[in-house]
Amino acid sequence: MGCGWGPFLNYLREVGAKGIGLTLSQGQYAACQRQGFEVYIQDCRRVTPEDYGTFDAVASVGAFEHFCSVEDYKAGRQDQVYRQFFKTVSDLLPWGGRCFIQTMVFDQGMIDLDKFDINASKDSAEYLMALAANEFPGSWLPYGKEQIINNARPYFNLVTHHSGKADYIETIKVWRRRLKRFGWQKYLAYLR
Ligand SMILES: C[S@@+](CC[C@H](N)C(=O)[O-])C[C@H]1O[C@@H](n2cnc3c(N)ncnc32)[C@H](O)[C@@H]1O
Repeated sequence: MGCGWGPFLNYLREVGAKGIGLTLSQGQYAACQRQGFEVYIQDCRRVTPEDYGTFDAVASVGAFEHFCSVEDYKAGRQDQVYRQFFKTVSDLLPWGGRCFIQTMVFDQGMIDLDKFDINASKDSAEYLMALAANEFPGSWLPYGKEQIINNARPYFNLVTHHSGKADYIETIKVWRRRLKRFGWQKYLAYLR
């Protein structure tokens, strides 16, 4: 759910499993099609068994962040959005089916939305959160794993959880190194 450019679908192919991906992006859909992945443009929060049948497992890597909008949060609908999502997923699974979610969460120390300030000092939470909100205007994160677990509970038992914070910091470092590395294709795109 939220398959992006298809890395998880690629992994499934490598291990010999069959999967389909959902994205909201036309560009990602086209790129996945070129790689021979079965992908559809659809809001995964609304998918039903009538759409593509049922599954052994559902995975979502880095999309949960986008399920609750700032407007939903302001209207007090965050829990409702997550609960509805887990209901949607559970309807796609048999009894005992697995759901894997990877998401960023707000940690202790998260500040209130009305404190976000793009003019605040650059090392402050106020400034960094204003930057993040500009970058992801339609997204609001869950408050810790607890909010996810609580809203999944009517449909799922928690089997395991893991903090990938250190892994993500390393991932971002690698992304930055690759982004800065010179390449003609990148340079031409930049000139355009
Ligand atoms: C940060 S990307 C992660 C992509 C991929 N899972 C990965 O790990 O590279 C977020 C993806 O979630 C998708 N997405 C966000 N909200 C969605 C929704 N409601 N329904 C379907 N896809 C959604 C976006 O279109 C995008 O493909």
